Amino acid sequence: MSAREANLLGNIHGGEIVKLADQTAGAVAQRHSGGPAVTAALDEMAFLAPVHVGDIVRTFSQVNWAGTSSMEVGVRVETQPWNDPSSAALHVASAYFVFVAIDAEGRPRLVPPLAPEDDTERRRLREAEIRRAHRLARKQEIDAARGRP
Ligand SMILES: CC(C)(COP(=O)(O)OP(=O)(O)OC[C@H]1O[C@@H](n2cnc3c(N)ncnc32)[C@H](O)[C@@H]1OP(=O)(O)O)[C@@H](O)C(=O)NCCC(=O)NCCS
Repeated sequence: MSAREANLLGNIHGGEIVKLADQTAGAVAQRHSGGPAVTAALDEMAFLAPVHVGDIVRTFSQVNWAGTSSMEVGVRVETQPWNDPSSAALHVASAYFVFVAIDAEGRPRLVPPLAPEDDTERRRLREAEIRRAHRLARKQEIDAARGRP
C-alpha cells in the first residue's frame, strides 16, 4: 500500500484496511448469492499488527454462514514487505461482515444455503452462529432498555 493511505504515524490507516476487507467480502457475498449484496453490518474488526507503507496486502475471504437473505462473511488480511519476498506472510487483521443480498428494488432476496464440507467450514459456521446470537441478544437488550416493543 502507498504513502497516500498512511496515517500520522506513517503506517497504513486502519480505515483503508476496513475498506479493502469490505470490498473483498462484498465480492465473495456477491458470488455466493449470485447478484448484488450490500454491507449491513461490520460485526467485528481486529487489527493485530500495523500495516506499513510498501507492504503487499492480501485478503482471503469466505461465507461463514447464510441465513434467509443475509450472510456472514469472514476476511483475513495478510501482509508481506514489498522488498522481501522470502519473509513469511503476517496475519494483520480479521473481520466479520454481514451482507444482505438485494433485488433490483433494493429489497432483501433469498440466498443459497451453505453446505459446509469440512471441519474448518463447520467450525466457521458454528462460530458465526455464536456471533449472530450475540448480535440479536444485544439488540433485544438495548430495545428492551429503551422500552421498544
Ligand atoms: C441491509 C438492508 C437491505 C436490510 O433491509 P431491511 O428491510 O432492514 O431487511 P430485513 O429487516 O427484512 O432483514 C433482512 C436480513 O438482513 C439482516 N439484517 C438487517 N439489518 C441488519 C444489521 N444491521 N445487522 C445484521 N443483519 C441485518 C436481517 O437479520 C435479515 O437476515 P435474514 O434474511 O438472513 O434473516 C437495508 O437495511 C439497507 O439497504 N441498508 C443499507 C445497506 C448499504 O447501503 N450498505 C452500504 C453502506 S454505504
